[in-house]
Amino acid sequence: MVKKRACVFISGKGSNLKNLIFHSRDNSFPIKISLVISNNREANGINFAKKYKIPYLTINTNKNNYENKILINLKKFNITFICLAGYMKIIPNNLIMNYHKKIINIHPSLLPKFKGLNTFTRMIKEKEKKAGCTVHYVSEKLDSGISIIQKSFFIKNTDNESDLKKKTQKLEYRAFPEAIIKIFRKY
Ligand code: GAR
Repeated sequence: MVKKRACVFISGKGSNLKNLIFHSRDNSFPIKISLVISNNREANGINFAKKYKIPYLTINTNKNNYENKILINLKKFNITFICLAGYMKIIPNNLIMNYHKKIINIHPSLLPKFKGLNTFTRMIKEKEKKAGCTVHYVSEKLDSGISIIQKSFFIKNTDNESDLKKKTQKLEYRAFPEAIIKIFRKY
């Protein structure tokens, strides 16, 4: 099987990146992580790129035309698929147009509920019964693209934000690789 060359975008801890790197070492996993892009020079996730010798790039999203730098590098590394793994910036439209249906994101809620930031704070405030994660295609509208996979759990009344985050991330480590396998099984 020829693996698709994928780029993972991160902003912080990078535990989903680490998990995807781990999965992608399996010959039957559909993608090879060939580039990591971070908007945050201090992101811990960059250490995983270094450790596993994956090329990485940091970008300054405050600079004009920063999206061109991204596009040039995606082309340079022959990237055909993009995973947003805790990337906390909006993806510019020209990137979405260039990678139509080729960008997926993991979000810590059962979309369409709790789009955007501070999902766990809002879930507790609104006394939600269920939490979970969604892997979805990225479209022009934030957290609104077609869903690929969701995984959920019931919230206990003793769960605080940190419990919800831990439980959600545990599900994310299964959902993200499963979504990628599901996408490429079709081809
Ligand atoms: C993940 O839980 C992901 O769902 C969330 O950021 C975390 C990153 O963790 N993404 C968003 O909130 C996107 N709106 P990680 O850096 O350890 O993978």
